[in-house]
Amino acid sequence: MNVQWYPGHMTKSVRAMKEQMGLIDLVIEIVDARIPYSSRNPDIEELAKGKCRMLVLNKTDLADPSVTALWKKAFESRGITVLELDARKSDAASRVKPLIREACREKTLRDKKRGIVGRPVKAMICGIPNVGKSTLINSMVGKTSAKTGNKPGVTRGNQWIQTSFGVTLLDTPGILWPKCEYHPLGRHRALFGSINDDILDEKELALELIRILSEAHPEALAGKYEISGTGDGYEALELAGTRLGMLGKGGEADLSRTAKRILDDFRNGRLGRISLEAPEKEKA
Ligand code: G4P
Repeated sequence: MNVQWYPGHMTKSVRAMKEQMGLIDLVIEIVDARIPYSSRNPDIEELAKGKCRMLVLNKTDLADPSVTALWKKAFESRGITVLELDARKSDAASRVKPLIREACREKTLRDKKRGIVGRPVKAMICGIPNVGKSTLINSMVGKTSAKTGNKPGVTRGNQWIQTSFGVTLLDTPGILWPKCEYHPLGRHRALFGSINDDILDEKELALELIRILSEAHPEALAGKYEISGTGDGYEALELAGTRLGMLGKGGEADLSRTAKRILDDFRNGRLGRISLEAPEKEKA
């Protein structure tokens, strides 16, 4: 599948990020724990040079915990402060707080030597669409100030937000990098809803998912839809539609509705806690 999606406001947001970077002490990067490799943004290394860094592996409630632990270790071995998180939980902010302190430790010491004490940390939360940026911001701010939404690209425009614990946040739009057609990056992002479904063929995407799952997690398909041995995937999609009672006129499976349902089940963890990328296979 060829996935290319880089809307104009995202290109602008990279420019805006570059401009705002001078004001920032700490970059909090959020990735989806199920696809930490594809949900990172390679621009970030360049953009965040010289800044305090922290990486949030979010949606850990939907990821395979043993794979998440491997990712944490892999990133930490590169000197990055890492937090495993479910940003929707009420303790999200209190779990982020000590990690921010840790990520900024060297800077705080440098400031102290220069007589600067207690200055609020200016942080930027960034990541591609749908990884949970707004959810985390809302948790850190303690009210519904950042817009959340299930459509990539909902978070727009930069704004400064005060938190109750000495951190000022810059809410940045989610960004994708221009060339995301490479496999598996674009494909994995699409499967997890970080690329707007409106521009994708959901049937094709569901077939791709069935192929991936039948190879790596056949039990997920068998358990939920009683499917085994998927052939070219179409047969499995039809079968799933029939099993789910998603029938069109003439009593045949409605493949579009079934595709949507399978993608939704997968994205929301109803097929189990599945991580599509592991650090030994990908470059962290
Ligand atoms: P974004 O700003 O990076 O684009 O992401 P956003 O916070 O809008 O989150 C995208 C979706 O992911 C939201 O669901 C949000 O609730 C969900 N989400 C965020 N963090 C986590 C997490 O750690 N675990 C799980 N399971 N889900 C998470 P939604 O269905 O689009 O919206 P809503 O109905 O939950 O409000």
